[in-house]
Amino acid sequence: MKLLFVCLGNICRSPTADAITRQLIASRNLGNLLECDSAGTGDWHIGLPADQRAVAAAAKRGYDLTPLRARQLCVDDFYQFDHILVMDNNNLKNALSLQPTDSKAEVSLLLDYLPEQPVREVPDPYYGAGDGFETVLDLLEQAIDQLLNELVNI
Ligand code: 4NP
Repeated sequence: MKLLFVCLGNICRSPTADAITRQLIASRNLGNLLECDSAGTGDWHIGLPADQRAVAAAAKRGYDLTPLRARQLCVDDFYQFDHILVMDNNNLKNALSLQPTDSKAEVSLLLDYLPEQPVREVPDPYYGAGDGFETVLDLLEQAIDQLLNELVNI
């Protein structure tokens, strides 16, 4: 099963989601079942590393974002991935508008895996100050834990 995390720039939220997921796949020995990657709907940061603030916040929790080079979501992703998990409604609209009608990828808001959580979108931390990156990590850790539980039926 292949999972693709999608945000706007592919330098903050989706690379963080990808790194959290890789670590959980390793710690739960799910490497034979699951693979993941990330992409952005926008093209501004293609080829660039993750945002330094995201790298630093993730590193404090033991996640390594340094291998990332940003890429843009493309039509082929809808054939290559089983689940495309987006961060907010803007990503959802952009992803659905790119999805070919014959692709089988399931596109959903990542926080749909946390139905009790009042926040329904992972907030964009890029222009915000303060603890935006911590909020992103908190939401992503909870949602991805739940996502993997549901996908592997634990
Ligand atoms: P991301 O954050 O979508 O979580 O990677 C953003 C990164 C860059 C921009 C917006 C959001 N930007 O406008 O350049």
